[in-house]
Amino acid sequence: MNDNPSPTVRFTLRENASILIEGSIEMIGPDGNKIETKEKFSLCRCGGSKNKPFCDGSHKANDFSSNPC
Ligand code: FES
Repeated sequence: MNDNPSPTVRFTLRENASILIEGSIEMIGPDGNKIETKEKFSLCRCGGSKNKPFCDGSHKANDFSSNPC
């Protein structure tokens, strides 16, 4: 039995919106540097954020749909 289990990290795909991340993670940028995150934050998946990789709410204005069709 593992006495020190890995902490749970949850990724939630929000309908017509971002990916909500909950838990302690380490995010590394393309330059190899760590990107500071909080215990709960959202990643953009609509492509419209001006603060990528984070969601800035632009998915509402660009009418993003998470449905493929
Ligand atoms: S998902 Fe929110 S700005 Fe892209």
